[in-house]
Amino acid sequence: MADFTGKNVIVTGASRGIGLTIAQSFAQAGANVAICATSESALTEAANQLKQFGTKIFTQVVDISSSENCEAFVANTINEFGSLDVLVNNAGITKDNLTVRMNEDDWDRVIAVNLKGTFLMSKAALKVMFKKRSGNIVNISSVVGQMGNAGQANYVASKAGIIGLTKTFAKEFGSRGVRVNAVAPGFVQTAMTDALPEGVKEKALEAIALKRFASAQDIAKAVLFLASEDASYITGHVLAVNGGLYM
Ligand SMILES: NC(=O)c1ccc[n+]([C@@H]2O[C@H](COP(=O)([O-])OP(=O)(O)OC[C@H]3O[C@@H](n4cnc5c(N)ncnc54)[C@H](O)[C@@H]3O)[C@@H](O)[C@H]2O)c1
Repeated sequence: MADFTGKNVIVTGASRGIGLTIAQSFAQAGANVAICATSESALTEAANQLKQFGTKIFTQVVDISSSENCEAFVANTINEFGSLDVLVNNAGITKDNLTVRMNEDDWDRVIAVNLKGTFLMSKAALKVMFKKRSGNIVNISSVVGQMGNAGQANYVASKAGIIGLTKTFAKEFGSRGVRVNAVAPGFVQTAMTDALPEGVKEKALEAIALKRFASAQDIAKAVLFLASEDASYITGHVLAVNGGLYM
């Protein structure tokens, strides 16, 4: 695993799930880690787990759809750690429905959190990275942003939009020493996928070449690779971590 000793990392949406595993992997690799989420109690629990690795951990309740919240979180992280090296835009939500039944509020909220939130957090971080002429952003997209998915127009549009943002930031900030990439996970084993009916799970597994769902660690490993010096000439890339579900 790459070494992140002394590096300062933000992971959004890291109170649980994939974000928490990404945060754990960075802390284990020696990084100071700032995490945000919407629940204070879940953040406190997550921070207690992260402290075992002996690096600095900072938590803040943040709504990433608010520019003030994002700017304050980045500023507070820099106050705590002194600098910022890596931003992982992981926080995301779903509000699924078939298009004809999807109401405007559910469209707006998913776009506001997933797409606008990724833009706002990146903007706040890029102001800092741009000045110090180094930095690294990894955005969490999704396989459905690449292949489409019935019943998820809002979510799919947000995740496809994140791919566009990734490529645009890569072009805007490459000359400033900032690399920007995305990871597009397929099905990840979480409480959500565990709860799927057996029939649905079997059908999903049929379409996956590796015949298993991803673990959160599978996703975290890809994120750490892109954020590391091992990926020093990779920018604007979308790394599919989907077990061969979509090629
Ligand atoms: N679980 C999967 O199978 C899967 C597949 C592909 C992509 N993804 C993506 O991976 C990411 C993590 O997914 P997960 O399953 O671990 O999610 P999760 O629901 O378990 O966790 C989401 C996290 O985001 C935080 N969050 C939600 N809204 C927020 C807001 N407005 N501001 C700040 N934080 C907010 C929550 O507090 C939580 O910490 C998401 O972007 C998701 O779209 C997940």
